[in-house]
Amino acid sequence: MENHIEKILFTEKQISQRVSELASQITLNFSPSTNNGGGPLLSSSSSAPVVVGVATGAFLFLADLVRKINLPISVDFVRVESYGSGTVSSGKPKISCDLKIDVTGKHVILVEDIVDTGTTLACLFEHLKSKGASSISVCTLLDKPSKRKVNVELVGEGKFYYGFECPDYFVVGYGLDFAEVYRNLPYVGILKPEMYS
Ligand code: PRP
Ligand code: MN
Ligand code: MG
Repeated sequence: MENHIEKILFTEKQISQRVSELASQITLNFSPSTNNGGGPLLSSSSSAPVVVGVATGAFLFLADLVRKINLPISVDFVRVESYGSGTVSSGKPKISCDLKIDVTGKHVILVEDIVDTGTTLACLFEHLKSKGASSISVCTLLDKPSKRKVNVELVGEGKFYYGFECPDYFVVGYGLDFAEVYRNLPYVGILKPEMYS
């Protein structure tokens, strides 16, 4: 599988290090005892934040991240798809599987593998707002601001956490796919163009 990859952008070790840092920030911002960080301040009676993984891409990042968050949290998934088997967004994300947990009045942390055009997030923000989430934060491993088409306005005291800024290449691994393949690579790399053209 390595011979399908042009270049490794973020190694397993770099990702693991950054995931720890993000988890620490989240722990601090959501801790009832510390008022640092400026995130949603939870009183001890508040219900646990709900960490929502956006399937399929976020599955590995979510699994690694939540194990390093030192707080009582809930975990749930939504499934949204817009890329199908191509390399370009359809522009019309479809929520094909909804949350199990009722997020009314709860702090939600959406976990993504990558924010690219922003369309998927915008769609989920509308959805979660309509369900009455009291704040919506985002934690994405990769952010590709060069491709943004839709601005995502955070809700309540929500924050935007990201692991790495991603250059404008089609990347795979650590959850990210091309046509559902390569998600199991432990690192993020640039797919050789001949693999999809
Ligand atoms: C990818 C990725 C993000 C979204 C980002 O999901 O996992 O969820 O696209 O792109 P955007 O910011 O342009 O909306 P995809 O639709 O490929 O589904 P998948 O997670 O099942 O691979
Ligand atoms: Mn996705
Ligand atoms: Mg995909």
